[in-house]
Amino acid sequence: MKKVITYGTFDLFHQGHYNLLKRAKELGDWLIVGVTTDNFDLERGKMNTCNNVMERIEAVKSTGLADQIVIEEYKGQKIEDIQKYGVDIFAIGSDWTGYFDYLKEYCDVVYLPRTEGISSTQLRQERPVVSLGIIGTGSIASRFVPEAEVVNNVEIVSAYNPDLEECRAFCGKFGIKKTAGSLEELFSACTAVYVASPHYTHYGYVKEALLSGKHVLCETPFVFKESEAEELFSLAEEKGLVMMVALKTAYCPAFGHLVSMLKSGVIGEIVEVNASTTTLTDEKSQKLDSRLHGGSMNENACFPLLPILKLLGTKFEDVRFYSKMKNGVDIYTKAVFRYETAIASFQVGLGVKTEGNMVISGTKGYAYVPAPWWKTDYYEIRYEDQNKNRKYFYPFAGEGLRYEIKDFVSGILSREYYFSKVSKKENLCMAQIQEQFLRGENVFII
Ligand code: CTP
Repeated sequence: MKKVITYGTFDLFHQGHYNLLKRAKELGDWLIVGVTTDNFDLERGKMNTCNNVMERIEAVKSTGLADQIVIEEYKGQKIEDIQKYGVDIFAIGSDWTGYFDYLKEYCDVVYLPRTEGISSTQLRQERPVVSLGIIGTGSIASRFVPEAEVVNNVEIVSAYNPDLEECRAFCGKFGIKKTAGSLEELFSACTAVYVASPHYTHYGYVKEALLSGKHVLCETPFVFKESEAEELFSLAEEKGLVMMVALKTAYCPAFGHLVSMLKSGVIGEIVEVNASTTTLTDEKSQKLDSRLHGGSMNENACFPLLPILKLLGTKFEDVRFYSKMKNGVDIYTKAVFRYETAIASFQVGLGVKTEGNMVISGTKGYAYVPAPWWKTDYYEIRYEDQNKNRKYFYPFAGEGLRYEIKDFVSGILSREYYFSKVSKKENLCMAQIQEQFLRGENVFII
């Protein structure tokens, strides 16, 4: 039996893909199709795929041409697959001519004619573009704009800041066409907004945006009251709009995979999660201004809360906070959560520095994520028997905001596949914890 293998991303499956598979199949008796994983595509710099790996596999399967589908996860896998499956012919489109000649040592290499006039890139470009308006033009918005530029199907069309001069300067710097003089002007120019204004203004802006029918991506911390979070989520649902909190860690490739691995039991039962996020900040910074909802908890707590709630759930027995205060804000807080079968803790600080790593301990081993764990591209799973230790590396490009932007845009464009990487329940729980802290409940001043 003559075995043929071919590989591809097969995003937005099109006629060119079909023709290629058909031609490859005709070369032999058994066709193996390798479909790239989302992570492998990210590593190769292909971060704009619209369909996830399951959807892409389904599309290949539905042609009925593949006798076997394998997933391609890493560079160098082709040689191993060819040997493992006893492949006779490696086939690929003619756009790759010459590139895979190194495989000739292992099997025949055939470059098949490519179908003219169609490609996934072209189809992605033909999809509608989400026009985005920005509310707030501070430092995070300045990092956001270049990140949005590398994401397909989104264009920043306008920005708003009550300080018109500042807004003009921002738009000029980033080549944004419209400086909005009012929220109404901003909303009339866009279909979605990114709220990057001071924390205490989030609730008001998000609500106005939703009421105006705009999809919303809101910076962290989302809001400080559970009732406000609940109200905004209900409003988004009612209006059929996407509302996402821009908690960047949740959208990064490494974090997502770490959570799935731990949930699948690689370190046994999880008994403790500890994470710390500290960023020494100038005392005069707005981040330490009590009138502006500054402080370490408000600024940073959402980051360590993410792994705690993801891994141990939102139903803890109690939480205690130990805070060091200065000028009416916490410059450092340690929080300790008691769960029925586990414990969790975190440290956040703007005026105190700690090691910023994360350790998740289990009955069979532990996960170690080095500082700064919240924007990591690497972690380790460690065991008593050090021979079993494993290191995992992932892409983390630029400022790491592109992953959340991509998800937000996909959420708007392909609603049927949309699911938020931070659930409503988790967001509500974060707001509830912030609220409890602000009420002073179980807060011990040190
Ligand atoms: N292919 C083809 N004809 C096309 C497009 C793709 O024969 N018009 C082939 C490629 O040469 C490759 C396979 O289909 O062998 C899978 O390619 P893939 O990279 O997934 O598709 P593209 O449409 O080329 O995707 P992109 O635009 O993202 O590069």
